Amino acid sequence: MDKLVIEGGKPLSGTIVIQGAKNAALPILAASMLVEGKVMLDHVPRLLDIDVMLNILRELGCEAVHEGQTVTLDTSTANSSHIPEALMRQMRSSIFLMGPLLARFGKVTVYQPGGCAIGERKIDLHLQGLTALGATVEEEGSRIVCCAGRLKGTEIHLDFPSVGATENIMMAAVLAEGMTTITNAAREPEIQDLQHFLNRMGAKIIGAGTDTITVEGVNRLEPCRYQVIPDRIVTGTVMVAAAATRGQVTLQHTNPVHLTSLIHVLRRAGVQIAVDGDIIKIGSSSRPKAIDRVVTSPYPAFPTDLQSQVMVLLALADGVSVMKETIFEGRFKHVDELCRMGADIRVDLNSAFIRGVSRLYGATVEATDLRAGAALVIAGLAAQGKTVVEQVHHIDRGYDRIETMLGRLGARIQRVPAAMDDRVYR
Ligand code: UD1
Repeated sequence: MDKLVIEGGKPLSGTIVIQGAKNAALPILAASMLVEGKVMLDHVPRLLDIDVMLNILRELGCEAVHEGQTVTLDTSTANSSHIPEALMRQMRSSIFLMGPLLARFGKVTVYQPGGCAIGERKIDLHLQGLTALGATVEEEGSRIVCCAGRLKGTEIHLDFPSVGATENIMMAAVLAEGMTTITNAAREPEIQDLQHFLNRMGAKIIGAGTDTITVEGVNRLEPCRYQVIPDRIVTGTVMVAAAATRGQVTLQHTNPVHLTSLIHVLRRAGVQIAVDGDIIKIGSSSRPKAIDRVVTSPYPAFPTDLQSQVMVLLALADGVSVMKETIFEGRFKHVDELCRMGADIRVDLNSAFIRGVSRLYGATVEATDLRAGAALVIAGLAAQGKTVVEQVHHIDRGYDRIETMLGRLGARIQRVPAAMDDRVYR
């Protein structure tokens, strides 16, 4: 497996353009199965998870080409609604295909999905939603088979505002007969992006971004070209990296509105942030201030996907901070690794108590999941000495060549490919 070798202690400085959003691109790629024809998607980042989704679409009979940041899909040749188990296990987002495939083919066979090891990650809300729309669901071991004639619009209340379940139900409802209303829907910006994409193809959806989404079923969709929104988690990761290294960074092609909660937290930590249209300027020259309480919650509250990165900043703060994780129970795996770098963090149930230290020290650490890996990279950039981050494939799931992006900001970071590993590190 590849490693990242980081020489820390250098403030980040410069300007970069932010990649398109993984979590918007994945459901949009899945939603493309609702139409027959050529769909073009711009600003699709080059990531492992996107590769997996494109491989699944090819397996289903589509033509899919990813050139630069543009994906061209021909979905008219799709002839299967069975997603092989090996592909399902590579990525949780494969579950997004359930709604679209069910709507298009009347049947879908999937398996319990894989993904980051950050918690239980059930799919009961997805299945309840599809059942409410008229599907029958049969589970046998890890295999799940859903069947339906034309789906029928209905009222669906989600017990928890799950992002994926909201998206899956929206996609299934687009071609259903009649009206579907989803209450207690998730409000994440990626859901709004999915609504915009589907409406561009002729769907009739309103309400994404609020907790009530209404989908009026239509008979067919028309292919379109669409540009994916900027990635708010990548934007946030670089912002925290700039603050933790006490650098000065300009980020272009962002949507600052999507980062309101992070901007609020960083300002409380004493970081300077200026926003101008789609540009964010961030700078810090002094030790961060501790924050008594940061709690992850569904959007627009503070995102779980930025919890580990912000913890690095708080690990360097002056005073004691508390970070509470309410979305995923297994999302403190970075804590042990940060402690190996000199951080002073104690976890009790779903809260981390972070006593800031004045300095982190380079160490060999392991990325256990995507965002934990990003946090370790930030820690390595801020630390004194050399850090080696192992298991970089987790980071590659969500960041387009993170070493190239950070290298543009002056970071001393290098990828050591697996094949070279022995020669360099024996
Ligand atoms: C999405 C994001 C992920 C982010 C998460 C929360 C994508 C591709 N991924 O994941 O980066 O961390 O939102 O913001 O967009 N749950 C159930 N039953 C279900 C579905 C979810 O109990 O059927 C629970 C989960 O176990 C978890 C919580 O709901 O505790 C949130 O999950 P959800 O919002 O569904 O996250 P994802 O869509 O998987």
